[in-house]
Amino acid sequence: MSESLTERRRRLLGPNVPTFYEKPVHIVRGEGVWLWDADGRKYLDCYNNVPHVGHCHPRVVEAIARQAAILNTHTRYLHEGILDYVEALTRKLGQGLSQAIMVCTGSEANDIALRMAQAMTGKSGIIATDNTYHGNTSAVSQLSTRRPPIGGRAGHVRLVPAPDSVHPVGGSIERQAEAFALNVGRAIVELEESGFGFSGMMLCPVFANEGLPALPKNFLEPTLGVIRRARGLVLCDEVQPGFGRVGSHWWGHQLMGFTPDVVTLGKPMGNGHPVAAVVTRPDVMETFRESFGYFNTFGGNPVSAAAAMAVLQVIDEEGLVQNAKEVGAYLLKGLKQLKHPLIAEARGTGLFFGVEFMKGDVPAGEFTGRVVEAMREEGVLLNRLGRHGNVLKLRPPMPFSRANADFALHALQRVLKATPV
Ligand SMILES: Cc1ncc(COP(=O)(O)O)c(C=O)c1O
Repeated sequence: MSESLTERRRRLLGPNVPTFYEKPVHIVRGEGVWLWDADGRKYLDCYNNVPHVGHCHPRVVEAIARQAAILNTHTRYLHEGILDYVEALTRKLGQGLSQAIMVCTGSEANDIALRMAQAMTGKSGIIATDNTYHGNTSAVSQLSTRRPPIGGRAGHVRLVPAPDSVHPVGGSIERQAEAFALNVGRAIVELEESGFGFSGMMLCPVFANEGLPALPKNFLEPTLGVIRRARGLVLCDEVQPGFGRVGSHWWGHQLMGFTPDVVTLGKPMGNGHPVAAVVTRPDVMETFRESFGYFNTFGGNPVSAAAAMAVLQVIDEEGLVQNAKEVGAYLLKGLKQLKHPLIAEARGTGLFFGVEFMKGDVPAGEFTGRVVEAMREEGVLLNRLGRHGNVLKLRPPMPFSRANADFALHALQRVLKATPV
């Protein structure tokens, strides 16, 4: 018998390379919000935010191909591509965030953000939440709780309890913002006493990996006050909410009503082409550049810049932020109307949704897993998130339509009816 793709992966890539689903999907083609497997079966993509403007968008494909046929080098030669892009990108950010470093992954971007905070403060202590992921370099993986670092967490890292809309920090939704800030304040004191000092806090403005809790717009106000009074930097990881995903705004921090010192971008930025960035103010950039020599071989190359520029243009030309707002509101309404004994909360912002399942006081992670598998059988790709894997995660490409939303909702209704609780 011939070797299966799964076996071949294991032989060539080693064990424990993650795949989604009990029966992994072998995707061979994508277009817009649709994916096709090797048997010709069509799936609605309700999960992937990297193909932000739609799988294989012809404008992005054409931009990559055109530039690849002319030139691809690195940023030690002069080229307009990176400059045109940074100009266009920073116009979308405003608030003094006018300079950028282009890199290849969100992890690299966050790694630089940590170093910017160190350069500005001369200190290394950093705070994140206790249920997050900011990437996989040695430095940023210290902020992840999924696989605790070998040898224990480094002394300069403090993790504070993540916000949660079903089990709020501080015991109630009303008290959560102050309780969260109090924990950040305590962590700052600890870091100062430990000798590392406090350089900043890294956070996703919508706490996506934490489970996308439903939070009021001013949720972060008390925390930001605490950070600023301690002269730390706010490092805003926009890898998931950025580029209009949240619908009402281009950026998660605008939705939450604050201006960060450093913004990091990734996943959707190149529609699948590996491009990411760190954006900051000139004073932060200057201090970083004086403290660290930084060069990234592939970051900001002409092909990456062309891909990223095409994505920006398509978002505007196709009105995708407004689409995220309108279709997002429509789908959220449908999710909130779902009737099921285990649904504790349906929440979302723009085209980013969580549906949390609880069995009484117990997170229904196993049930949620079965829903994910059954949805795949229905031809809808989504996944789950949250500390206990009990939150369905829907985060489709931005050209998602009302008809797509109906397709997903009807499938979910059928699956919820058929899945034993
Ligand atoms: C919030 C957040 N930050 C950073 C990263 C890391 O990005 P990358 O995989 O491009 O290094 C991820 C990846 O999942 C992420 O979710």
